[in-house]
Amino acid sequence: MLNFDYYNPTHIVFGKGRIAQLDTLLSKDARVLVLYGGSSAQKTGTLDEVRKALGDRTYFEFGGIEPNPSYETLMKAVEQVKQEKVDFLLAVGGGSVIDGTKFVAAAVPYEGEPWEILETDGKKIKEALPVGTVLTLPATGSEMNRNSVVTRKSIKSKRGFHNDHVFPVFSILDPTKVYTLPPRQLANGVVDSFIHITEQYLTYPVDGMVQDEFAEGLLRTLIKIGPELLKDQKNYDLAANFMWTATLALNGLIGAGVPQDWATHMIGHELTAAFGIDHGRTLAIILPSLLQNQREAKKGKLLQYAKNVWHIDQGSDDERIDAAIEKTRHFFELLGIPTHLKDYDVGEESIDMLVKELEAHGMSQLGEHKAITPEVSRAILLASL
Ligand code: NZQ
Ligand code: ZN
Repeated sequence: MLNFDYYNPTHIVFGKGRIAQLDTLLSKDARVLVLYGGSSAQKTGTLDEVRKALGDRTYFEFGGIEPNPSYETLMKAVEQVKQEKVDFLLAVGGGSVIDGTKFVAAAVPYEGEPWEILETDGKKIKEALPVGTVLTLPATGSEMNRNSVVTRKSIKSKRGFHNDHVFPVFSILDPTKVYTLPPRQLANGVVDSFIHITEQYLTYPVDGMVQDEFAEGLLRTLIKIGPELLKDQKNYDLAANFMWTATLALNGLIGAGVPQDWATHMIGHELTAAFGIDHGRTLAIILPSLLQNQREAKKGKLLQYAKNVWHIDQGSDDERIDAAIEKTRHFFELLGIPTHLKDYDVGEESIDMLVKELEAHGMSQLGEHKAITPEVSRAILLASL
């Protein structure tokens, strides 16, 4: 096992009806800004639940954070926070709203131009406003991690940053919020959390026994409940298991002490920035061809994945690996997610541009061995057509 530090200060408040708990989680004299996305939080009644729980506290609202939150929109929230002297940010939404809120939290006290936060991976952040979240879409794990991804529309750049100061202080996870998700977002969430796990598991063996067992259990859970939940979306137990699995997939626990990949994510971000393809879908396109391309480097873990996740124990090593990759692709398709670039009207003529963008963003040594050069990314993209 590799050396590691593990730190996670987020207080999880899990279960039906837990939004009312906001009253005890927030101090009476907090000046709160409630940040949300488009119309879903209003339509589903979540925003009203939040308003009721805030009671007679002083609070303001900022709506309109887009999926793949934009720097341009978030800078308007930064202005509002400064004007109203807000001292607590409450995100009500999915990964986009939570990520956007983390950016606002870091940008308000930031010395210098806030886009630098994205250019420097958050390394220069010295402080941030406290953030709490009410999660409405299980997928990203943002509710219990130190990551955020922001898009600057004017230059079509989607970048991430990481910093301990933006861990949410608390996150309220009410599984009934899953009931109103459009099936497409639900499917995206299953795939996103699945690939968060593979990014930390499908690398090379370091005898991280607990991490491996944990990752395999989470993957098997998603394989079981993903399709069931799509057919029976208001099943509380399925929704609760999905919500907690998605959080555990990216709260740092399974990635501690093991190598990590993240190449699928980095290539996927370019597809979202260039063509607006949903995050989860970009991953479903890239992962199967990346696994094929990296099958030698990942051989040990791919065989373990075939056996322990897909119960494949027949055939040669190559046959088992092929079967595991095929089952992975089939699982995404079963959820209603097409897995080829052509399904999204992206053709070979776009590959050069995508590879150039990866290079421009410093994504020239991706993967657990830093072996995915721009030329390897090109081969993976070509195989994804
Ligand atoms: O905008 P509204 O109207 O609220 O609708 C949203 C949005 O259109 C809707 N929605 C959310 N909860 C709902 C709901 N509709 C009905 N009922 C509900 N309960 O769902 C749509 C998508 O929401 P979004 O927040 O964009 O989705 P997701 O949670 O998948 O977040 C994606 C973003 O997270 C980033 C992605 O890159 C992308 O920008 N990621 C963040 C990570 C992190 N912080 O660790 C890791 C991930 O790998 C990912 O990169
Ligand atoms: Zn993701």
